[in-house]
Amino acid sequence: MTSGRQDYFKTRPNVDAMKPDEDASLLKGFRLGRQRIDPPFVLAPMAGITHLAFRQIVARYGGCGLYVSEMLSARAVPHENPSVSFFLKRWSNERPFFYQLVGNDPDQMVRAIQWLEQRSHESGLPLDGFDINMGCAAPLIRNSGCGVGLMRTPELAARMVSACRKATRMALTAKLRLGWEEAFEPTLKLVRTLEGEGLDGVTLHPRLAREKFKRRARWEYVGYLSSAVSIPVIGNGDIRSGEDAVRRLRKAGCAGVMIGRLAAQKPWIFALASGRLPVSTVRLDELYFDFVRLLSLECPQERQIGRLREFTPYFSLNFRFGHRLASAVQNAPTLERALEEAARFFERNPEELCLVLQREGLHPDAPGCGREAETFRPEPASSVDSG
Ligand SMILES: Cc1cc2nc3c(=O)[nH]c(=O)nc-3n(C[C@H](O)[C@H](O)[C@H](O)COP(=O)(O)O)c2cc1C
Repeated sequence: MTSGRQDYFKTRPNVDAMKPDEDASLLKGFRLGRQRIDPPFVLAPMAGITHLAFRQIVARYGGCGLYVSEMLSARAVPHENPSVSFFLKRWSNERPFFYQLVGNDPDQMVRAIQWLEQRSHESGLPLDGFDINMGCAAPLIRNSGCGVGLMRTPELAARMVSACRKATRMALTAKLRLGWEEAFEPTLKLVRTLEGEGLDGVTLHPRLAREKFKRRARWEYVGYLSSAVSIPVIGNGDIRSGEDAVRRLRKAGCAGVMIGRLAAQKPWIFALASGRLPVSTVRLDELYFDFVRLLSLECPQERQIGRLREFTPYFSLNFRFGHRLASAVQNAPTLERALEEAARFFERNPEELCLVLQREGLHPDAPGCGREAETFRPEPASSVDSG
């Protein structure tokens, strides 16, 4: 631990004691370059999850200040067919929108950015920025020097940002982990260098490269980084409720909060966190069937069941016996069979289908009252610890 960090922890005010009416200024949002992010809650990029169908479910409730795609290989992007690619597809109500790119070659990254900008120009669908993945810890990614592998080669990471900065005027961010070692100094130095190369903002998922979800995200580093650099810092990891997201914002003093797995469980979490709830109730069965309908409409048939299997373990955490839904869908050979299984599960659990929402969580008189903060379990059995 450095002396700078110790000082930071000593001098920080007791932020828990702040009054709720300070929430309004906390929630006013921030800028990434020219792009305004308001409310300050960001959908985390999640491979297999944050595709068009899922983002549309999030957009239905609103409150999300920034939508981010699944990670896309910078090498592969220019070979996609933009009019049919499920990886690239997006609708105009997902704004602001960033593509997340993963790669280890600045030239490839620049080509992908230019190609995506050009396609977005041709389609008339505005695009708002790019995020460079410097946090993915999946062995295949990190061992090829991509994702968190880039944090081991700070000089390459800096060249990457410098090249991308010259290639685009859109917002440019990077998503990082704590690094490879306990010492945070190299990461702080890296972020300062990237800032100097023109990065507009940074997301910190405060776990080391090899840490799994079992170890808690160390939010004290989000606070430390926020106080040590000039660009906006977005904190990420283990958000458990809407209230928790606001509390993290206040406590860490960061610009924004990114939400991943909890969004897959509760796509309305951004609306809840930002206090902009468009509905007072959520019907879980309707939400699930709407998601499947969107998948059937927009996702190539051969990928539909896979995407449903990725989503369901998170969504099923809304139910006491949700593991039964997750395993039935996991074992269903087709989308039709998965739908039948889901319909049967919902029929057997009618008392859990309707959630009544309010800003602080569930309404006190709601069925299942008090479960808002409690149902989040950090890791469903089938999750990929990739970010
Ligand atoms: C299934 C899954 C896929 C992920 N894919 C990505 C990805 O494509 N890019 C990325 O930067 N992080 C990825 N992550 C990491 C998340 O963006 C996020 O950093 C992590 O889940 C911690 O946030 P949370 O506790 O809110 O889920 C993924 C995480 C999960 C669970």
